[in-house]
Amino acid sequence: MGLSRERRSQKNQRNTMLRFLLQWMFIMCLAFTSSFAQPAPFTMRISCGARQDVHTKLTNTLWRKDFAYTGGLSCNATRSSFIAPPLKTLRYFPLSEGPDNCYNINMVPKGHYSVRIFFGLVARPNLSNEPLFDISVEGTQIYSLKSGWTSHEDQAFAEVLVVLTDGSVSLCFHSTGHGDPAILSIEILQIDDRAYYFGSQWGQGVMLRTAKRLSCGIGQARFGVDYNGHPWGGDRFWSPIKTFDQNFDRPRSTESRIKQAVASPNFYPEALYRTALVGTDSQPDLAYTMDVDPNRNYSIWLHFAEIDSSVTGVGQRVFDILINGDTAFGDVDIVKLSGDHYTALVLNKTVTVNGRTLTITLQPKDGNHALINAIEVFEVITAEPKTLPEEVRVLQTLKMTLGLPLRLGWNGDPCVPQQHPWSGALCQLDRTSSKWVIDGLALDNQDLRGFLPNDISRLNHLQSINLSGNSIHGAIPSSLGTIFSLEVLDLSYNSFNGSIPESLGQLTSLQILNLNGNSLSGRVPAALGGRLLHRASFNFTDNAGLCGMPGLPTCGAHLSAGAKIGIAFGASFTLLLLGTCSICWWKRRHNILRAQQIAARDAPYAKARTHLSRDIQITMHQNHGNARTAAENGPILLS
Ligand SMILES: *[C@@H]1O[C@H](CO)[C@@H](O)[C@H](O)[C@H]1NC(C)=O
Ligand SMILES: *[C@@H]1O[C@H](CO)[C@@H](O)[C@H](O)[C@H]1NC(C)=O
Ligand SMILES: *[C@@H]1O[C@H](CO)[C@@H](O)[C@H](O)[C@H]1NC(C)=O
Ligand SMILES: *[C@@H]1O[C@H](CO)[C@@H](O)[C@H](O)[C@H]1NC(C)=O
Ligand SMILES: *[C@@H]1O[C@H](CO)[C@@H](O)[C@H](O)[C@H]1NC(C)=O
Ligand SMILES: *[C@@H]1O[C@H](CO)[C@@H](O)[C@H](O)[C@H]1NC(C)=O
Ligand SMILES: *[C@@H]1O[C@H](CO)[C@@H](O)[C@H](O)[C@H]1NC(C)=O
Repeated sequence: MGLSRERRSQKNQRNTMLRFLLQWMFIMCLAFTSSFAQPAPFTMRISCGARQDVHTKLTNTLWRKDFAYTGGLSCNATRSSFIAPPLKTLRYFPLSEGPDNCYNINMVPKGHYSVRIFFGLVARPNLSNEPLFDISVEGTQIYSLKSGWTSHEDQAFAEVLVVLTDGSVSLCFHSTGHGDPAILSIEILQIDDRAYYFGSQWGQGVMLRTAKRLSCGIGQARFGVDYNGHPWGGDRFWSPIKTFDQNFDRPRSTESRIKQAVASPNFYPEALYRTALVGTDSQPDLAYTMDVDPNRNYSIWLHFAEIDSSVTGVGQRVFDILINGDTAFGDVDIVKLSGDHYTALVLNKTVTVNGRTLTITLQPKDGNHALINAIEVFEVITAEPKTLPEEVRVLQTLKMTLGLPLRLGWNGDPCVPQQHPWSGALCQLDRTSSKWVIDGLALDNQDLRGFLPNDISRLNHLQSINLSGNSIHGAIPSSLGTIFSLEVLDLSYNSFNGSIPESLGQLTSLQILNLNGNSLSGRVPAALGGRLLHRASFNFTDNAGLCGMPGLPTCGAHLSAGAKIGIAFGASFTLLLLGTCSICWWKRRHNILRAQQIAARDAPYAKARTHLSRDIQITMHQNHGNARTAAENGPILLS
């Protein structure tokens, strides 16, 4: 017994050991997967205008066929730049398709993204002008193409870093009257959630537009993929710069390994730090100047690694960094700050630039030479608030039911970018929700041919509606009477029919009501008459038959079509009755005469009389029914 228990306890011990071992292996496995197998970032690349997916060979990149656009035409592309992806098609947006056209891409997981758009050139023999247009991302204008972009590599695209939270991204292209916007490709590349964190203002509500990305001391343009860069690096494009000024600097490079380059959150390529520009004895300062848009904030990222083996320790290369003359960093000692030779150092600073140039100066101390490996400059853009989604949906319904002409566009967000609102939609920023709302519709003389849906009342911030001079038909929706902020309602010169809804009488703010020049009929709601006392201006003239207002016929005298039919029926009924009576009277008199003449035979007279009276009853019954229908249609009652 005792032995058996001992053996069992040994067995238990072995089991426990085994379980412990298994558990330990499991935990190690978990640790391994979580630390090494970081999930791949979300990437989506679209070859605009392409009817099939495209594989570009050199970099083995997949470009999805064109989708998610709102309009435009597909067409062959001319290579606009040597750095543009080698795609053969593009999508362009002629002005006849409206001034604003978009790509609305869904199924984009929540995250931080680098969104890059390459511009295109339509392949047409006589095309000489590069199109100039504006680009917005998520309703915020991020870029206006600059004339001459085809001759500057790094102006062949626009790129912005943006936090996306609602599962989609909207990219819009806005005509500025300088050619048709043409788009070659769209890339949506996920980057680290904290990439380019620059301080407390960073994050949602802020976008960083790439203004410049320079790799110093080389002559060849490189993408992240050429550097064999980290997948979370966002395939950045680095413009080459061999020299800031030929007389005063020289390039320097190394083949050595660089420590701490490929690090979270920005995952820079190691090779970026293997080349640099270094100052010379004749001019120890290094200065780089670029053109910028004035009165904006710029986030500047400077990259260093001590790759000169003659600098052997701390204190041998010390310099100040000035941005537009102000010291941004004092006493920068690369070895000291990065901790070693051949070790990456990244410094960032956000500054406001009032002028049109940005100058970064490296000022060495005590006969040293300055050194720099790379420069990144981002424009800090405050994201615009968008329009209340509910109101956007209503406008989209209106676009459909009113048959809005294509040239008006109505794509993207109605109110933003503020430089390109939808024409005909007037916007106001609602302070309580911090969203844009629609407070006016100015679609007069726009060749609208549809009808006005009841949904219009969900635009409940409207103060004025002008749809004058179109061909809108059907009834005036009674729901208009629930837009209590409405002050101006001009539906004149359309084809509205039916009667004026009673509900309009509830609009106590209404000052101008123009319903003239339509096919309206019936009684004008009495409550509107009361509004006239408050110096409101109403016009009901030139309609099919309105009544019951000063200046209009009184409702009894002026008859609607239904009432006229009723009267016609009434009159014929009376005539028929009169006729029948005279026939009766004549027959009766005739019979009496005959009776007086013959006096003896009575039976045939009685028979004929029964017949006649039944015929009259049937006629009366039919006419009575018609008269009632007529009375319901019009205000006129038959007496
Ligand atoms: C585009 O180019 C292809 C040949 O590459 C040609 O067959 C096609 O007709 C072109 N399309 C247009 C619209 O010019
Ligand atoms: C350019 O050529 C196209 C046809 O290829 C023609 O429709 C267009 O009018 C021409 N434009 C100009 C400015 O000559
Ligand atoms: C950028 O600089 C700020 C301080 O100026 C610092 O807090 C931040 O960590 C830096 N960002 C990165 C990614 O190094
Ligand atoms: C720039 O940043 C400052 C705060 O540092 C802010 O007050 C200002 O509005 C910003 N300017 C622009 C144009 O975004
Ligand atoms: C509405 O538009 C028409 C045509 O443009 C204009 O004549 C009219 O004055 C406008 N109505 C109001 C109330 O402003
Ligand atoms: C108004 O016009 C439409 C045709 O546009 C017609 O179907 C409808 O019956 C008319 N309504 C009235 C009340 O006359
Ligand atoms: C009302 O509309 C008619 C045209 O339908 C116009 O002739 C008249 O001047 C308008 N009245 C006022 C007061 O605007």
